[in-house]
Amino acid sequence: MGKLRSSSVSFHSICMSICTIYGIFLSSNLITVQGFDSLLQLPRSGASRDRPRSKKALYVDDFGAKGDGFSDDTKAFADAWKTACSFSSRSKIVVPLGSTYLVRPTNFAGPCRSRVTLRISGTIVAPKDPSYWDGLNPRKWLYFHGVNHLTVEGGGTVNGMGQEWWAHSCKINRTNPCHHAPTAVTFHRCNYLKVRNLLMVDSQQMNMAFTNCVRVAASRLRVVAPAVSPNTDGIHISSCNRVEVKGSIIRTGDDCISIVGNSSRIRIQNIACGPGHGISIGSLGKSKSLVQVHDINVNGAYLSNTDNGVRIKTWQGGSGFTTNITFQNVWMKNVSNPIIIDQYYCDSRRPCENKTLAVRVESISFIGIKGTSATEEAVRFACSDSFPCKRLYLEDIHLESYSGGITRSFCWQASGSTSGLIYPPHCFSNDENFIRQKVFSSSVLQSI
Ligand SMILES: *[C@@H]1O[C@H](CO)[C@@H](O)[C@H](O)[C@H]1NC(C)=O
Ligand SMILES: *[C@@H]1O[C@H](CO)[C@@H](O)[C@H](O)[C@H]1NC(C)=O
Ligand SMILES: *[C@@H]1O[C@H](CO)[C@@H](O)[C@H](O)[C@H]1NC(C)=O
Ligand SMILES: *[C@@H]1O[C@H](CO)[C@@H](O)[C@H](O)[C@H]1NC(C)=O
Ligand SMILES: *[C@@H]1O[C@H](CO)[C@@H](O)[C@H](O)[C@H]1NC(C)=O
Repeated sequence: MGKLRSSSVSFHSICMSICTIYGIFLSSNLITVQGFDSLLQLPRSGASRDRPRSKKALYVDDFGAKGDGFSDDTKAFADAWKTACSFSSRSKIVVPLGSTYLVRPTNFAGPCRSRVTLRISGTIVAPKDPSYWDGLNPRKWLYFHGVNHLTVEGGGTVNGMGQEWWAHSCKINRTNPCHHAPTAVTFHRCNYLKVRNLLMVDSQQMNMAFTNCVRVAASRLRVVAPAVSPNTDGIHISSCNRVEVKGSIIRTGDDCISIVGNSSRIRIQNIACGPGHGISIGSLGKSKSLVQVHDINVNGAYLSNTDNGVRIKTWQGGSGFTTNITFQNVWMKNVSNPIIIDQYYCDSRRPCENKTLAVRVESISFIGIKGTSATEEAVRFACSDSFPCKRLYLEDIHLESYSGGITRSFCWQASGSTSGLIYPPHCFSNDENFIRQKVFSSSVLQSI
């Protein structure tokens, strides 16, 4: 803990630097990433410097890609991947700057014989017409699976052309049937994965998903989709272990970061989020599922105009637990539910039935959460009657009303303890004698 605290940027400076970057991004129309590294003091991607000399470069154009934005370059990408993946030493696929490649839904399958880098400096666009997915899995566009030691980087753009998908979403127009839409980039069962310095634009549904991966380092990602685009989570982590996401800016229509499934040892650091639905653990326990989520640390975030701040959401009827979670050093600006635990989450057209089973929510710490709330109820702990929230911990909380007036806390079946100044005043049913979460050691992530 001491180590983590001393090495982390101070609360104020996180806000100042991220807010400033945010301003830069907004005003420069998302063109530049200059200044990002130095402000956040992130490691350089070192794309060309610190690599072994002999990495074979495979240019997609040499595999027949046109890069004009209209011709179908899918086969060139698939062929370049096949070649790189079967190469006996390190190789690098290059998507050059200045060109735009139209790529249909594609599987990039592992295992590969040695390490592969995909260097996206140019732009990859999806077909804009959903009928290109006819007969294919509607959840996938660029789908990497079973690949170990993959690096994806390059400063380029991945554009999901999601407009048609959104228009056909039942969340936009209730007369539409509900169907799945693709996640723009999925990494499934990819271990030792590095993803950095990419811009994701207008994804069809989720932007980037990590599912069943172990050891992932993601950094300097920028995600941009309209606030009204449905289910466009920024970064989705499902049943992964040892994941670090840092120094990223996410403006989207759903959760900026969502963590679900049996995930553990996840560290989220220095994130700017908004618009969007905040940083969420869950939803968990849908359709009576069993989940075990533990050791999640969110340290350093700036959330502005989001629907939620830091949130844990579980469906009634699930089982398992979410425990040992810490949210710290989070700055909120005009956030609708800055701190929220909701064990009654229900995202369906019909009201959800009352059930006794629930995913247990225990040992959750909120430390240094400050800023402004768009609503009076700045803190909400709506916990289950049969499985009340236990060992909640609040320290240095200051959430004022954005528009003036008071803020308050809501508690239902929530117990815990506090330290330092707490505003709005807490409403725990009893004062437990509980010390805050020990944040899991950073060494767990070191060998990514
Ligand atoms: C919703 O979809 C229906 C059928 O496709 C269409 O007639 C209607 O105009 C749409 N409504 C809106 C608000 O777009
Ligand atoms: C989580 O792990 C448990 C036990 O291994 C398993 O039964 C359950 O299906 C998993 N849940 C999810 C959402 O993957
Ligand atoms: C949560 O942390 C406590 C205290 O460090 C530890 O005893 C417990 O095993 C942890 N639980 C899980 C599920 O990781
Ligand atoms: C503050 O948040 C509320 C609720 O989301 C929104 O209606 C309002 O426009 C926001 N104010 C500003 C200045 O962004
Ligand atoms: C569930 O319980 C709440 C509180 O007791 C009650 O207000 C609500 O009507 C119930 N909902 C259903 C669908 O039974």
